[in-house]
Parts: sequence; structure tokens; C-alpha cells
Amino acid sequence: MNIVEADPKDMSVGYGGLPNEDGIVELDSCCMHGPSSNAGSVASIRDIKLPSRVAQLVLKRTDHVMLVGEGARRFALAHGMKAENLLTDAARRKWLKWKENLSDKDDWLSPKEAETGHEARPTGTITCLGLNPAGELSGVTSTSGLAYKIPGRIGDSPIIGAGLYVDNDVGACGATGRGEAVIISCGSRIVVENMRHGMSPEAAVKDVLKRIVKQTVDPRLLDKKGRPDFEVVLYALHKDGRHAAGSIYKGRQYAVNEGGESKLLDCVHLLDR
Ligand code: GLY
Repeated sequence: MNIVEADPKDMSVGYGGLPNEDGIVELDSCCMHGPSSNAGSVASIRDIKLPSRVAQLVLKRTDHVMLVGEGARRFALAHGMKAENLLTDAARRKWLKWKENLSDKDDWLSPKEAETGHEARPTGTITCLGLNPAGELSGVTSTSGLAYKIPGRIGDSPIIGAGLYVDNDVGACGATGRGEAVIISCGSRIVVENMRHGMSPEAAVKDVLKRIVKQTVDPRLLDKKGRPDFEVVLYALHKDGRHAAGSIYKGRQYAVNEGGESKLLDCVHLLDR
């Protein structure tokens, strides 16, 4: 996780992540340790390259689960982490393009549309689940969140039970995609509960994706066919080693390493585009 967080070319997590609407990078991350049933989380943290490491420190070195904003930043500095500007030039240019094209009624003037093309509003998150030979489960999720979000917006990624949940007796689940939908559905926790009640990882993630589709009734969030106009991906790892990932729409993959070469596997899905 730290390798990707530190990579300036990855615009979905850590250093180089796309900023909020003010052009400031705010990061969310959490981790959970199955054997101790303990968790750590940071939300909306600024200036710190590796938020998942701060989340791990919250788990190990505090009596709390979640630190947010300036408190999280000061906690990271207290542990010797460096405050750095996380906005790379590439991310700043993308943000500026978004800002200039936001409205033709403000004072930010963009170059002509024909020159720039349409810029989609990207999201990106990484979740990583692990099972060791002793049968111990752990997980971590990290993100720079929704690009150009309202400052202070927190997604699902730092929320235990939404962007991540680990139960050492059952399994683990992490989530990527539209955080608001994952929070409202308590996505990862429900996937783990589904596995506790006997569902396979595949059935467990599909059940929660169906709930998300059913809960999405606001016309603002629906496409022309009345289906969600966003994506959610849920990744499930059973304590017995079985795993699956599921997306609302066809075409997603997830990475697995069971010793030796890593491989990319297809997600199960609910809907074709
Ligand atoms: N799933 C990441 C976010 O919505 O912030």
C-alpha cells in the first residue's frame, strides 16, 4: 500500500492524489487487524504522504480508532512524519482544468473546449486484504477520495464497516467506488455478515451490490435506464481462503496473490453497461 501511496504518478491515493475543490489533497485511510479486532483510521488528513501508516499508528499507539483533519496531521507529525505538499504539478493541472471548466459564470476562464476536451471527474481507491498461514486476517484501504470534493468530505475508505471490515472468525471485505453508496449500505460489514451466515464470497458481494442498486432511487444518481450512474466494487476474502470481487457493472478485475505470481481475475457483476 505504501508503495502506491508514495508514487506521484498514481492519482488515486497518497502523494499525487487528486485534490479537493480548493486544490488541497485530503486523504482517507483505515486498517483493521483480525486477531485483535482492533482498527485505526485517519480521515481528511493533509500534508502526510502515507495515510495508511498513520492509520496503523492510530491502531497501535492510541486508545482511539479514528483521527480526523488537523488532529490526524498533528498526530502524524508527533510520530516523526514529514509535512509535505502532496499536490503534484500533474494533479494541479488536472484540478485547474476542472476548476476553469466548472462554470461560465465565474472569473476562472478556460482555454477553448476544443483544445482541452472533456475532463471526467475521476475517483480511485485501493483496498488490500491479507490472510497469513496462521489463518490471521488483516486489511487496509487508502484513497485521496472523490476528486474535487467539498473540503472535509469523507468517503467510505476511513470508515470501519464501510470501506473495510475484518472479522478473524469469518473473513474480510474492502470497497472501492462511490463512497456515499458504500457508507449508506454499510457495505463491507454486511458482506462479512453474509459470509458469517454461510454465503460464499461471490454471493455475499452480489447481495450487497443488489442492495446498493435498490437503495439508489435519487434521479440525480440514475442513468437514462434508471440504473446507478456510478460504480461500486466489493472485494471479499473468506477465512478459508476463498475470495471474490464484485462490481455493479461488467468489466472490472481484481489482483490476487496466493504465493508466486500475482494474477488478475474478473469481478462478478450485476449489470451490463
Ligand atoms: N471510495 C472512495 C471514496 O468514495 O472516497
